[in-house]
Amino acid sequence: MYRTTTPTAAKWLAAAATFGLIVAGAVGAQAPAPKAAGKPAATAKAAPAPAPAKSTDPTVREIEKYREALADGNPADLWEVRGEELWKQKRGPKNASLEKCDLGLGEGVVKGAYAKLPRYFEDTDRVQDLESRLVTCMVMLQGFSYDQAKRAPFGSPENKSNMEALVAYATANSRGAKMNVSLSHPKEKEAYAIGKKMFFHRGGPHDFSCATCHAQDNIRIRLQDLPNLTKQEPAQRAYTSWPAYRVSQGELRSFQWRLFDCFRQQRFPELDFTSEGSVALTTYLARNANGGIFNAPAIKR
Ligand code: HEC
Repeated sequence: MYRTTTPTAAKWLAAAATFGLIVAGAVGAQAPAPKAAGKPAATAKAAPAPAPAKSTDPTVREIEKYREALADGNPADLWEVRGEELWKQKRGPKNASLEKCDLGLGEGVVKGAYAKLPRYFEDTDRVQDLESRLVTCMVMLQGFSYDQAKRAPFGSPENKSNMEALVAYATANSRGAKMNVSLSHPKEKEAYAIGKKMFFHRGGPHDFSCATCHAQDNIRIRLQDLPNLTKQEPAQRAYTSWPAYRVSQGELRSFQWRLFDCFRQQRFPELDFTSEGSVALTTYLARNANGGIFNAPAIKR
């Protein structure tokens, strides 16, 4: 009942299954349509259970976990709070906080900054997304080495990532802002063009591009929509919902993580955190989402 597919999508899903893209359980869970309408389908209700049993189907279990988390509020709050503390805390060889970090709207201005990123920064002469800009601030203000600042970009339950906490804090301060990514500087135009080219670039063992999975309407893998990121409305909906707390991972995930993971789905070489290519791709996607209302950190399966 959670899976609705168009005939085209069904064909695509069958093709994707041959690539091993779809977990067997999810395909098996694709229940056939009920034969007779009007006849109550659920006949297994005979014995009333005192408490609702937890499903053993991993897919259904994920949905249950998602609902439970939603009922309790979004755990992303915990990352936001930790991120704010980290922002204000004196750290690094220079024993300085990030409170003078310029995210594009001036020193220390966090509010609304994310909705205008990526953008061109004069001091680095580069287009930067939030994560690469945070690395710059950690190097310039706090005196960390570039490698130290880039270390552990993605957290795990045993090893929380400072970067993901800072991302949660910064992005939460753009909640409600309208996406407004500029292409007025030549380097911004260039980044957009490179990002677009990367989006349509096919390669790897399956000859996939981002567009293979994200340039058609109404397709899904597992329980996930595959938004058409070349169209304004779905691009807005997708982009403005990252970063997100992933219930299945128990972690808050940044947009850099999103791209990293889709490179993996695409069977491409590992995407280097905050690389020029990752920022270009982000520029393309963020610009396509212009006009959308930013509403993250969100919560996802
Ligand atoms: C093989 C199919 C496949 C390819 C190729 C692929 N993705 Fe994805 N993408 C997915 C799946 C599946 C999800 C949702 C999965 C999840 O949430 O973990 C997703 C989710 C996303 C999202 C988040 C959408 C949302 O609404 O939350 C973005 C953005 C994205 N991909 C971008 C890209 C980019 C950029 C590329 C190219 C580098 C790419 N994807 C390549 C399968 C793919």
